[in-house]
Amino acid sequence: MQFAAPAERYDRYMGRYTPTLAVALADAAGLAPDSRVCDVGCGPGGLTRELVDRVGSAHVAAIDPAPQFVAACRERNPGADVRVGVAEHLPWADGEFDATLSSLVVGFLTDPDLGIREMARVTRPGGTVAACMWDIADGGMTMLRVFWTAVRRVDAGATGESALPGTSDGDIAERFRRAGLTGVVAGALTARADYTGFDDFWEPFTFGVGPAGQYLESLPPAARETVREECRAVLPSGRFTLDARAWYARATVPALRPDVTGRSGRSR
Ligand SMILES: C[S@@+](CC[C@H](N)C(=O)[O-])C[C@H]1O[C@@H](n2cnc3c(N)ncnc32)[C@H](O)[C@@H]1O
Repeated sequence: MQFAAPAERYDRYMGRYTPTLAVALADAAGLAPDSRVCDVGCGPGGLTRELVDRVGSAHVAAIDPAPQFVAACRERNPGADVRVGVAEHLPWADGEFDATLSSLVVGFLTDPDLGIREMARVTRPGGTVAACMWDIADGGMTMLRVFWTAVRRVDAGATGESALPGTSDGDIAERFRRAGLTGVVAGALTARADYTGFDDFWEPFTFGVGPAGQYLESLPPAARETVREECRAVLPSGRFTLDARAWYARATVPALRPDVTGRSGRSR
């Protein structure tokens, strides 16, 4: 899926969860201080920033297909190697990194399994691959649960984001195993975001960012208004904080690495 919105709009929509989610994913990955680390699907660079804080910008690489996100990520993380490109064809050599992380990206890849195999390829044997996606299946991502529940009042058949890879418990872990990764550990991460009030919650949905924003743009104005009022009805008045659960998996690249075609052995 294409993310064409300016970085500042992404920040207000989803990026407000990044400071807490990035800490949780980096902790789950268990990075050693001098690790060389890659952030795949970096967006405007929220996780990249956390990685730079932990291992230093000279040890951090990042990649995303959206040029405006790459520009923001570069500006926010001077010294990091930030490139335009896709997970399915990473522009780094085999084993360049000690750890490769990806936050909220697996579900948006054209070929998630190929993307994961590429993440494994650029990570050294014994290194770590870790990824997370929001919990859509069990409704643990409150912001999106509130939105899609409201949508179903006007479009009962709306599937929302539940068909996206990685959004149900254990899906990323299963993909890691299929990619030949070992020692797979999976679980839940908790993030949160503060809102100054309902308008601060609603306005970012109108920016057209991600599946929810794009779906909202497709609705006629009256239906949009209904969705808005359904959301308002279930949220507190005044300031509030929403919790968000993500499913993650972490795994180790085996000594005999899986290659990008899925066979065991040296890749490429
Ligand atoms: C929900 S955003 C997550 C951004 C960032 N990782 C974060 O946690 O805020 C999804 C990101 O995946 C990127 N993306 C989409 N297709 C991709 C692909 N094939 N390879 C790598 N990234 C991709 C988008 O451009 C977007 O930046």
